[in-house]
Amino acid sequence: MDYKRTLITAALPYANGPVHIGHLAGVYVPADIYARYLRLKGQNVLFVCGSDEHGVPVTIRARKEGITTQQVVDRYHELIKRSFADFGISFDIYSRTTSDIHHKFASDYFRKLYDEGKFIEQTSEQFYDPETGHFLTDRNIRGECPHCHSLGAYGDQCEKCGSTLSPEELINPYNAETGNPLVKRPTSHWYLPLDQYQQWLEQWILEEHKEWRSNVYGQCKSWLDGGLRPRAVTRDLDWGIPVPVEGAEGKVLYVWFDAPIGYISNTKELCDAQPEKYGKWETWWKDPSTRLIHFIGKDNIVFHCIVFPAMLKADGSYILPDNVPSNEFLNLEGDKISTSRNWAVWLNEYLDDFPGKQDVLRYVLTANAPETKDNDFTWSDFQARNNNELVAIYGNFINRALVLTGKYFDGKVPAQGNLSDYDRQTIQEFCNVKAELERLLNDFRFRDAQKEAMNLARIGNKYLADTEPWKLAKTDLPRTATILNLSLQIAANLAIAFEPFLPFSSAKLREMLALETFNWESLGSTDLLAEGHQLGEVSLLFEKIEDAPIQAQLDRLARIKAENEATAQAEALKNWQPAPIKQATTIDEFDKADIRVGTVLECTNVKKSDRLLQLRIDDGMGGRTILSGIAQSYPDPSVLVGKQVLFIANFPPRKMMGIESQGMVLSAVDADGKLVVTTVTAPVRNGAQVG
Ligand code: MF3
Ligand code: ZN
Repeated sequence: MDYKRTLITAALPYANGPVHIGHLAGVYVPADIYARYLRLKGQNVLFVCGSDEHGVPVTIRARKEGITTQQVVDRYHELIKRSFADFGISFDIYSRTTSDIHHKFASDYFRKLYDEGKFIEQTSEQFYDPETGHFLTDRNIRGECPHCHSLGAYGDQCEKCGSTLSPEELINPYNAETGNPLVKRPTSHWYLPLDQYQQWLEQWILEEHKEWRSNVYGQCKSWLDGGLRPRAVTRDLDWGIPVPVEGAEGKVLYVWFDAPIGYISNTKELCDAQPEKYGKWETWWKDPSTRLIHFIGKDNIVFHCIVFPAMLKADGSYILPDNVPSNEFLNLEGDKISTSRNWAVWLNEYLDDFPGKQDVLRYVLTANAPETKDNDFTWSDFQARNNNELVAIYGNFINRALVLTGKYFDGKVPAQGNLSDYDRQTIQEFCNVKAELERLLNDFRFRDAQKEAMNLARIGNKYLADTEPWKLAKTDLPRTATILNLSLQIAANLAIAFEPFLPFSSAKLREMLALETFNWESLGSTDLLAEGHQLGEVSLLFEKIEDAPIQAQLDRLARIKAENEATAQAEALKNWQPAPIKQATTIDEFDKADIRVGTVLECTNVKKSDRLLQLRIDDGMGGRTILSGIAQSYPDPSVLVGKQVLFIANFPPRKMMGIESQGMVLSAVDADGKLVVTTVTAPVRNGAQVG
């Protein structure tokens, strides 16, 4: 731990849409907690981020919306930047990869490695659209999934069954935008020969960084065990940073090559603009006494632990990440968050619906942080954590301490006086919080750390409940003074302890306490507020959230779910094809089945079954009962009454749900899975044979 400064990076978000709670929970809130914590400790910290504005998704978005790619990235860069600022994500710089500084920096970075022979050039066959004259990237290629045979799988992934794909595996690949069929064409690219870094990476990660989170370490190990292969760092594309080599027209740097360099170029942009304040960028990136920490989501692990370190190593003058605390994914109400399916809580919309409640979301997302496994965000949990934790524990304690001080001591900090054993015991308890918090924060365990901060509020609440100063005030004012003094000291401690997690609330509390001293080292102290110190104005730290706004969110999600299901059904209908013809049979075989016509007399749901309907049928032979698994397709079973249906009359009787079924009603399956019962085109006598 002999470092002098910490450089914190947070994954550069793609500027192809607004940011949602998954981004915040996975990357930006934890990174921000860490940055704020270190700053509060007085450490030298730089927190760097920016928009990732190259790559294919932004170009797809542009074509979809009928605007230029530049317009897309301009729009989302501003929106994303605004959202981060709104949520108090305390970047020292939030820049973008379309900046001139970045273009030049990334271009030079490539050129240096190129000149030093660090790349290999290889020609390969790539998918090409002869109509448009473009090579296609994985994401722009669609076709039939080789696993589940759904149509419209992407060249990198099938969204239906979730399998990872390469475009070569797709059946009948086509251009996702034009629908044109594709051909293979040779093209040449530059590759970073990762295989040459394999041994070094094995030593550096598997031997020297056993302390990395097990999900990160495990993913690295499985990549390394699988053997690394050269990776292309250029693409045939017209959006991006041109490859700075003669004869490479029409080729750009691969987005995953230029984006991580954005961490460096953004640092340079900041340092060049304010050298007195931030020093030289090289100090942050090349001095071994700098500690580099990358905050990312789990889909970024390979790029930050293997590819980018290999790029840094290839250059040779850079430091390497000390740790890469990566999170798993956050789901929303049990389903995967998805930008394209609009299954998300967008930060800008959240603030429209819950103005001023940034900290509530920060709190809930940290409480549910997907640190070791995927986790779920639900609106009912959001409401419960606000009402039962922030309001009932933290807010309630602060409010009682401040209101009582106002009532009995005119809002001035009363004398501490003589401490009782119980007071000392309480002080001991809350002093321990600092060491525990530090241990957890240093270990990137933000979820447990926040719990520990909340424990401090619990200690305060219990102290007030046990000592009941409101009952003592009339009979023992000095004792009341001691209790409220200690309570206010705890409140001041809470403002500090929660600052990394809930910066807006800490600022508010700090104002209410008129607190001057505000640094991590004074955590655990019982004289943060001097006797006679005048407190500020009291207001509520948190407010209860009622059912109505929560219901409104659930209604919105239900609407989106219904829309998505309708779209999926329309899609299924469009792609529907009849099942293949069964094996050949004969008239004799067919004749064994005795198919008859009968009129439905009654048709009702079978109790306790959401699948079965019970039909009473006039079969011209005294009637029979048939059970049929069509309940889902006939929400109103009475529509079948009076209809003539076809049924198999010579199946052996079968008992289901305690009822005997005497045959099988024939039906056809529609493309969306609905069953439609068959009938005759004109009335016939009940019991008539079909053949
Ligand atoms: N844009 C990428 C994503 O959202 C992350 C890029 S991180 C960087 O998954 F290192 F490349 F910058
Ligand atoms: Zn599939």
